[in-house]
Amino acid sequence: MESLVNPHVLQITPYKPGKPVEDLQREFNLKKIVKLASNENMLPIPELVRKAIDEELSQVHLYPDSDNHYLRQRLAEYNGLQLDNVIVGAGSVEIIHMLIRTFLKSGEKVLSSEKTFPLYKIVTTEIAGESAYVEAPMNRDLCFDLQAIAAKIDPQTKIIFITNPNNPTGTFIHAQPIRDFIERVPSDKIVVLDNAYQEYIDNPDDYVNGLDEIRQKKNVVVLRTFSKIYGLAGLRVGYALAKPETIAILNRVKAPFNVTRISQRAALASLESEDYKNESVRMNRANKAKLFSQLQSLGLRVIPSQTNFLLFFPKMDVAELNLRLLKEGVIIRPTAGFGIPEGMRVTVGLQEENDFFIAKLQKVLAEIKKQAI
Ligand SMILES: Cc1ncc(COP(=O)(O)O)c(C=O)c1O
Repeated sequence: MESLVNPHVLQITPYKPGKPVEDLQREFNLKKIVKLASNENMLPIPELVRKAIDEELSQVHLYPDSDNHYLRQRLAEYNGLQLDNVIVGAGSVEIIHMLIRTFLKSGEKVLSSEKTFPLYKIVTTEIAGESAYVEAPMNRDLCFDLQAIAAKIDPQTKIIFITNPNNPTGTFIHAQPIRDFIERVPSDKIVVLDNAYQEYIDNPDDYVNGLDEIRQKKNVVVLRTFSKIYGLAGLRVGYALAKPETIAILNRVKAPFNVTRISQRAALASLESEDYKNESVRMNRANKAKLFSQLQSLGLRVIPSQTNFLLFFPKMDVAELNLRLLKEGVIIRPTAGFGIPEGMRVTVGLQEENDFFIAKLQKVLAEIKKQAI
């Protein structure tokens, strides 16, 4: 079979999502399972969005609007840009695919940091082979090091992914270093700001959302998603903002009807649900602070986070700890697949979910400690 396969595909280390609840239920026959593994918003979606989804159900025998026109128009207005600055995808991962397919020519490279979202590497490998992907080191605070990234730029570099705040570390880059970086990057390269967690940052005044850069027609592409703060991970909607020339080219590779009717309607409705968004930010902030100090009280190193998740270091075999947590009904995320084999990432959930996680973690850590004596 392998001889039939595109050799680039054989180089891919597949993306490993958090374990599905259904799988765990089957394996261990558990009564209660809490999944905090994929950085979803655990608050139920607003009534307005639920109603929009219900209404659209009567139309699902018809293809959706391939152009995503109304959603793009609303997103343009929402972000103070024009219709031709916006493209919508089935999740922002679809747009990551489109970007690399569209802009990476033979011999060119994609550049990002180590310890970040694995999709940049997976998609680059699929399209151009593993050697087309270049990683710069992070700094000691587990933050993107823009100096180190700049040092790796060479004539072959084509696309640079900056994840801000970063997944899985939760760390963020201040505004001035990003502005300086964008100024330094030669104009024949594309800087992609992956802002999937932008709504969670503490201080929007110290954050580059990329909109000014797009208005100035720089080679900057901003990626946003409805999967996190808007609570629509299951519907797969993301978008990119960029100058019209970039969007027009991306439209050439966009699959027709790429975003479902229900997803378009739900995304539109969720842009009208500011209360839900504000409540999600408020809840995340409060619950994250509590979870942070609870993890610290268990003697664990935790990384300060500007997102809806926390990276922590259990100082023991992560695979064993993970298995024990799974048996207790807790699904969180070992970060080996992100280049951090000694870490685990937990999503900030509802208070009751976080309490369940902490109680089980405490229990499992005590058992492991007892066994070691
Ligand atoms: C940094 C980052 N970018 C993009 C995505 C993909 O989001 P979407 O659900 O829009 O495909 C994720 C998802 O976890 C992410 O962490």
